[in-house]
Amino acid sequence: MCGIVGYIGKKEAAPIILDGLARLEYRGYDSAGMAVFDGEKVNITKTVGRLKVLEELTHGGETMPGFSGIGHTRWATHGAPSNSNSHPHFNKDKTIMVVHNGIIENYIPLRNKLIKKGYEFVSETDTEVVAQMLDYYHKGDPLETILKVLNRIEGSYALGIMFTDHPGEIFAARKGSPLIAGQSKDGCFIASDVPAILRYTRTVYFVEEQEIVRLGEDRMRFYTMDEEEVEKEPVTIEWDADAAEKAGYEHFMLKEMYEQPKTIADTIAPRIQKDKIEIEELGLSDEEIRAVRKVHIVACGSAYHAGVTGKYVLEGLARIPVEVDLASEFRYRDPILEEGAMVIAISQSGETADTLAAIRESKRKGFRVLGIVNVVGSSIAREADNVMYTWAGPEIAVATTKAYSAQLVALYLLAVKFASVRKTIDGALYASLLRDLKRLPDQVELLLNNKEKIQHFANRYIGARDVFFIGRGIDYAISLEGSLKLKEISYIHSEAYAAGELKHGTISLIEEGTLVAAVSTQPALYQKIISNMVEVKARGAFLLAVTNEGNREIEKVSDYVIYIPETNPFFANSLAIIPLQLFGYYVAVGKGCDVDKPRNLAKSVTVE
Ligand code: F6R
Repeated sequence: MCGIVGYIGKKEAAPIILDGLARLEYRGYDSAGMAVFDGEKVNITKTVGRLKVLEELTHGGETMPGFSGIGHTRWATHGAPSNSNSHPHFNKDKTIMVVHNGIIENYIPLRNKLIKKGYEFVSETDTEVVAQMLDYYHKGDPLETILKVLNRIEGSYALGIMFTDHPGEIFAARKGSPLIAGQSKDGCFIASDVPAILRYTRTVYFVEEQEIVRLGEDRMRFYTMDEEEVEKEPVTIEWDADAAEKAGYEHFMLKEMYEQPKTIADTIAPRIQKDKIEIEELGLSDEEIRAVRKVHIVACGSAYHAGVTGKYVLEGLARIPVEVDLASEFRYRDPILEEGAMVIAISQSGETADTLAAIRESKRKGFRVLGIVNVVGSSIAREADNVMYTWAGPEIAVATTKAYSAQLVALYLLAVKFASVRKTIDGALYASLLRDLKRLPDQVELLLNNKEKIQHFANRYIGARDVFFIGRGIDYAISLEGSLKLKEISYIHSEAYAAGELKHGTISLIEEGTLVAAVSTQPALYQKIISNMVEVKARGAFLLAVTNEGNREIEKVSDYVIYIPETNPFFANSLAIIPLQLFGYYVAVGKGCDVDKPRNLAKSVTVE
């Protein structure tokens, strides 16, 4: 997803912009560029490829002197990755420069109108239309010009804009795409995300929907679309800049996997007080919890997989029917939400466009939304009626691990809380569930510390062509995530199946040596999954089993077994996923893949 960084102040802008863009690399990109203004002329450098190329071309920014500038990493949507499609885009005279994240949906009619008026376009992007329109409307007052353009474009945007006739200022605006602003004693910043500017300041402003920012060297002002100035309170970011670095691990993904015990503890601990679950931010009284008739969970990717687990846990413990939807489906299927329905949206980034749209659809229908979100102040956090934060800290690797684990425990907390209020569990079970929740961090740690066994096994599967993950109930939800982890970072085709479903077609793909990972953590279903394992073994499958300590029977049908420590079966996902994450990771490392930045993927998917 595109990344934006802008700076104006007392220091050279180019090195700050390059550094900020480097910290946004996790978002995924295919080209990069920046424009720096030295008060007389604008220098623009843009290139397809990694940020390193831009650094080399500009000698680390030295060839682009100036105290104000805007930079961009592009993730292609309209027009292939190329130098001319890279940002910044500009008008013919190079007096107006624009960087953009999002999609201008009506760019074709707007571009056609401008072409009729004699404008020439040099790129295939939707963004260039913004630069040309700014040129068309600009009569000297930048704010007025920007408003005229914003009122005519449809779609989503975070924009960074420079006018050479206003040398002491840069401008920004957002609608539907993330944007923050920050201020230090040396200048003002804009960026797509906080890590980009953390090295320079902890004083951050979250730019609201349809807000415009005017940045000077030592002050910034915010405006509504009616040109009214708004007072905003800055937020002080507490997390350490080091939290966004690798801390000695080979990859962010490995570091983040190792942070899971802490993440889980941080998400659980503040919500268990005096042996009782208290989730104040839920905003629901006990009476309201009892009145919930149905829960709808909406999310994408791994967050959706956490939601599938949430369904089994909430239904199993609190006896509330739960429907889990991919947000991209929910938003267009005119979902039936009836009285007593509660919507839960799960998202790490808090910026996923489809999840945000699903929230808006639910609110439009008059239903309250609880967000389970990791990024504080993100769009979903702001648009949901209530927010339960997962305290995972910044997640840099594109493939999620620690945020997913935090989402799981947030859902467990909700389920146990609902179950106790609705009296679907007794006091003894409540106490034992709490005890098992508190044990999870140590148990995850134990599994991580025994990584060699899975690492050794993974090395044998570097050349695999297809892998299948099977399980029933919660084990199916675990399989979904295990399969995604493997395929997204190692590029090995893998699929997750509800174990009983395999024989309805997919079993024909099993051949001699095909790896099938069978997840079996639910004692009530041990025998069932063993039957399915026997079925695939008879067709030549090589069987990896992930199961509970003590389930020795599974050894009879398995070729390799990974045991997880004992916990309540409802929480088994948090443990069984660890070896599967490690498996995906070590296969990808073995294959020499770019683990933290898999091809074609972006960390935060802010377009549909
Ligand atoms: C996979 C992964 C994605 C995200 C999905 C939703 O490892 O990270 O599948 O889970 O794009 O993102 P968020 O949680 O930011 O809404």
